[in-house]
Order: sequence, then C-alpha cells, then structure tokens
Amino acid sequence: MRNILVTGGAGFIGSNFVRYMLEKYPDYRIVVYDKLTYAGRLENLQDVAERFRGRYTFVQGDICDASQVNAVMKEHRIDAVVNFAAESHVDRSLMEPGSFIQTDVYGTYVLLEAAKEHGVERYHQVSTDEVYGEILEGRATETYPLHTRSPYSASKAGGDLMCLAYYHSFDLPVTITRGSNNIGPYQYPEKVVPLFITNAIDDIPLPLYGDGSQMRDYQYVLDHCEGIDVVLHKGKPGEIYNLGTGVETRNIDMARMILDLLGKPHSLIQPVRDRPGHDRRYALDIRKVQALGWRSRHTFEEALEKTVRWYVENEWWWRPIKSGEFYQDYYRRQYAGRELT
Ligand code: NAD
Ligand code: TYD
Repeated sequence: MRNILVTGGAGFIGSNFVRYMLEKYPDYRIVVYDKLTYAGRLENLQDVAERFRGRYTFVQGDICDASQVNAVMKEHRIDAVVNFAAESHVDRSLMEPGSFIQTDVYGTYVLLEAAKEHGVERYHQVSTDEVYGEILEGRATETYPLHTRSPYSASKAGGDLMCLAYYHSFDLPVTITRGSNNIGPYQYPEKVVPLFITNAIDDIPLPLYGDGSQMRDYQYVLDHCEGIDVVLHKGKPGEIYNLGTGVETRNIDMARMILDLLGKPHSLIQPVRDRPGHDRRYALDIRKVQALGWRSRHTFEEALEKTVRWYVENEWWWRPIKSGEFYQDYYRRQYAGRELT
C-alpha cells in the first residue's frame, strides 16, 4: 500500500486523517479527492499542502463522476481507497435528503465500481454508529440489525450494504468502520460540539434539543483516525468494525462541561424544540476492534478540553464560516422561533 486515495479528505475527519497518515507513514502518498461542498475546505489542509509537498495532491471532484474518479485512480496508480466523502449532517438530511442519497449511496457505488476496475488492495468505507439506530439498552455489536431513522443514517446504511455486496459478489477487499460522534479540530460549526463552543465564546445561547437527555459516544477525531488506520492495515476484508470509546454522555452534560471550560454561565443553555425522529442513544460494543490492538487514547473530558482549546485558539478558521451568509441562512432556517421557554 503506497498510493492512497482519500475521498472527502477536505472535510473534518478526512483532513485529520490525511495529516495523521502523512506524518505516520513517510513512504505513503495521498491524493485527496473532494467536491469542496460547504463542509469541505482547503483551509483544513493548508499546512498539509506546505509540509508534505511531493507526497500530497489535491484534486477537486465529485465521487458521483465516474470518469473523473477512474482517471484519478489511473493517473495516481491508486492501491487503496478510504472513503470519507458524504453529506454528513442529520439536520440537513431532514431538509434535503436527495443530496444524501446521491453522495452517500450512489457515490459509494461509483467508488466501489472504480475500485473493482482498478483492482485496489483495499477499499475502506468510513461509516457511522447511526446505522444501528437508537440503542435504548445495551450496545450494538457489528451484527446488530440496521434500524435507521434519519435520511442521513439510511443513506449511510445503503452505502455500507453496497460495500458488502461488492465484497461478496466481486471479491473486492472491502472493510467498513462504524464510528461514533467525533470531536476535534476543523469540525464545521453546525455539529453540536463546535456549535456550542463557538456560540459560548460569543455569549450566544446554546440551542439544546428537547430535554438534552439524548446520549452520544463522543470520541476524539485522532483516535478515530488511528482506528481507521488499524483496520486499513490489520482488518479482515468483508468485516465491519465499530470505533468509539464505549462511554456515552448526555447532551445536557456536554453543554454544561463546555460552559464550565469557558467560564460561562449555564444560563446560556436554551432548550429548543426537539429534532424529529431524534435518536435517544447510540452505544457501541467495541471489543472486535480492540482485539486488533486499538483503543481510544482520550477520555471524553480530555477530548473536549483539547477541542475547546483549539476553537479558542483558531478563530481565524471558524469566524469567517459563522459570519458568512450561507451559515447565517442555515442558522435562521434551523433555529429561528424554535425556543421552548
Ligand atoms: P464533513 O461533512 O466534515 O466532510 C465531508 C467531506 O466530503 C467534505 O470535504 C465534502 O466536501 C466532501 N464531499 C461531500 N460530497 C462529496 C461528493 N459528492 N464528492 C466528493 N466529495 C464530497 O464530514 P465528516 O464529519 O468529516 O465525516 C466524514 C465521514 O465520516 C462521513 O462519511 C461520515 O458519515 C463519517 N462519520 C462522521 C462522524 C462524525 O462525528 N462527524 C462519525 C462517524 C462517521
Ligand atoms: P450532531 O452533532 O448533529 O450529531 P448526530 O445527530 O449525528 O449525533 O448532534 C449531536 C447531538 O446533539 C444529538 O443528540 C442532537 C444534539 N443537538 C442539539 O441538542 N442541538 C443542536 O443544535 C444540534 C446541532 C445537535
């Protein structure tokens, strides 16, 4: 494995993964292929382009464009694909499901077909714990049934099933990881943790859905990247691996911890009307990936502290996003008139 195509590499997790891999493997070359939607930003890879010149290439393109995907794989003699490209935000999937089906299902098919054509050593699909649906009790193992409830999770499940179909039908060496919620540098500030941190910095209310008792397993993004690396190199083709900490936190507690870290009052928490179909709890059984030697290095407290510090120190990155008309328009559509008290 030498030449890796990282699709969606200009987004949050993808850009962290690219930096991590180039630092760890001096003989690897990485081609990032990304459409640069609102969530994909070249700023996320600015330092990478400077530090790893010669081993890093950026190509702007859509994973749904088969001829461009094939041309890039051929030109760069790709021997592994790691697919991060997706529409990734549940709330947006409630507003416009079509783009999720297009990228997360059809786009995955295009990549699988190209990977088969080029005979790659490995196709790795980055998926999510959300495909299991809400887990009210216990934990989901990798064989747990898929009970998707949002257009986002349904689209991701469609992508996963297509990956498994290519393994069984065409012997394509596919692996899948299903990660829990990531936090860390470069996460677009519409996802809850960076939204709450940046609102709190500016004394803007934190819009907490419902009663805030929903639970997520928040993991540090670099732990997730390390887990993907372990599965890419040690995972067995045709297999799925859950990646998370195995510890869940209620949204209300996460919001309070952010405010405490920033020295802001809890009165900034503003309950708002709940998300339709809001999954109450995600919880993963992570024993399968632990058997490959991976475990997450950060507790939630450590991950949150690092994340808060990054947003405090990197206003250059998020202020232009939040002050832009695209973001402001989304914020109004999503939150205006939604207050509960
Ligand atoms: P993100 O929204 O920050 O980044 C997605 C990237 O994909 C962006 O750079 C975007 O430009 C690119 N993209 C979108 N459509 C594309 C297309 N048609 N062609 C090419 N590029 C396209 O998402 P993220 O949070 O970094 O998530 C990355 C992956 O990890 C996704 O597949 C997501 O489902 C999965 N995941 C995310 C989390 C999380 O907590 N963020 C948890 C588990 C799994
Ligand atoms: P999110 O970051 O959208 O991730 P996901 O829904 O994919 O897990 O949301 C994480 C949790 O935070 C989820 O339970 C919904 C909640 N949430 C809020 O309470 N307020 C918000 O403004 C947002 C965006 C999310």
